[in-house]
Amino acid sequence: MTGRLIVLSNRIPTGGPPSGGLVVAIHELLAARGGLWIGSADEFVEVPSETLRPIEGGEGYDKAVFDLTEAEHEEFYLGYANSVLWPLCHHRTDLLALDRQYADSYAGVNARVARMLAQIVEPEDTIWVHDYHFLPIALELRKLGVTARVGLFLHIPFPNLHDIEALPERDQFYFWLAAYDLVGLQTQADVARCLESYRTQPSGELMLNGRVKFDGDAFQVRSFPIGIDGKAFKALAEKPLTHDPAHIRADARLILGVDRLDYSKGIPNRVRGFGTWLEKRKPDSPRATLLQITPPSRETVPAYQAIAHEVESLVGRLNGQYSELDWTPIRLIERAVPRETLAPLYRQADIALVTPLADGMNLVAKEFVAAQDPEDPGVLILSQSAGAAEQMTEALIVNPHDAEEVADAIERAFMMPLDERRARHEALLQVVQDTDIFDWGASFLDCLNRVERRDGMPG
Ligand code: G6P
Repeated sequence: MTGRLIVLSNRIPTGGPPSGGLVVAIHELLAARGGLWIGSADEFVEVPSETLRPIEGGEGYDKAVFDLTEAEHEEFYLGYANSVLWPLCHHRTDLLALDRQYADSYAGVNARVARMLAQIVEPEDTIWVHDYHFLPIALELRKLGVTARVGLFLHIPFPNLHDIEALPERDQFYFWLAAYDLVGLQTQADVARCLESYRTQPSGELMLNGRVKFDGDAFQVRSFPIGIDGKAFKALAEKPLTHDPAHIRADARLILGVDRLDYSKGIPNRVRGFGTWLEKRKPDSPRATLLQITPPSRETVPAYQAIAHEVESLVGRLNGQYSELDWTPIRLIERAVPRETLAPLYRQADIALVTPLADGMNLVAKEFVAAQDPEDPGVLILSQSAGAAEQMTEALIVNPHDAEEVADAIERAFMMPLDERRARHEALLQVVQDTDIFDWGASFLDCLNRVERRDGMPG
């Protein structure tokens, strides 16, 4: 790679060292190669600047932010990104909040960020865009004459054709993606959905090896399953728990659920599955506690408020029904727990319940595996609808909608002989090692840099 690497993501760590898999990986990538990381500013402004504002904290690379007004935060971020594209990509078109104002704001912010990028990008540079907040950026850059390579990695599922039809901007959607040189997706299933949707377009043509011709231009579609820094997470997990483990386990087996409070994560169906297990449990069977750690997310969006109420009322009902004087079956923490606490907790758990209804990859599944003691590992129960299920086939794979199936998997995990637990864990750990976050970044950039550079606007 000859030019500079420019990374664009809506979230950028501001202040303090970066934490969290992806953010750490981008940080390390940029620290090794140098470059620029651009994201949105923490504070809203009345009148957004037309130039990027440098910020501190890059350690070997530059960091800069673009401004948002409060209205843009509501319409671009909470609105179009998280109340239109997010539900669309997670098969929840019933939750689409279609509003022309949202679409206009999304177009406006993307056009402005593209103008700011165009001021600083050189033809030899590589621009790596992350996620659904910026789908139109490449097209906007091409309109401004930018010929540098631009790649997109979509962290969330690629929508199916039927769902794309529900988008008022469905025609633009195909132009947005086709203006990239490389569209990176999590799984083979995502790639298949993407190719299928272009195949149905009158000006779309599928070529060999994931290349797509659209309206005269060609771009590459490929899957790059994201991973974690397994070694670092293992080291974190091996540190002693800051809380007394006996207190956390309270004489019961420990089942752990860790998710942002989001309807895509399937928390209510997980709780129902655990409820079915409680219902079937014999009085003398071991007790188990489901510890559900759920940091709130996008809290002013009505669908997120609704899911919070649903989870709270379900947990309340089941606890009311099954608690005993010395045992509360479900413990719900609606706050973020630091990774330093979380990692050793994963190691303590007998089971991780990872049951999303739709999920790009799900890194909790990989972190749980990395954190285990290989001599006495816990069992991963994983939804068939998480991207991770495509590789982590040795988990107990479940249909997250089916409470009976989830309950049976919990029982099976508790009864699983040590040999089987070890064998499954070994295979899963191999997957975690094979999808290391640093290889992920390097292979995406390798693939992007092998694409021939464009020399003008798309036809
Ligand atoms: C998902 C998305 C990310 C997003 C994160 C947290 O993982 O793929 O792009 O940053 O959720 O959501 P938030 O809206 O808080 O940034």
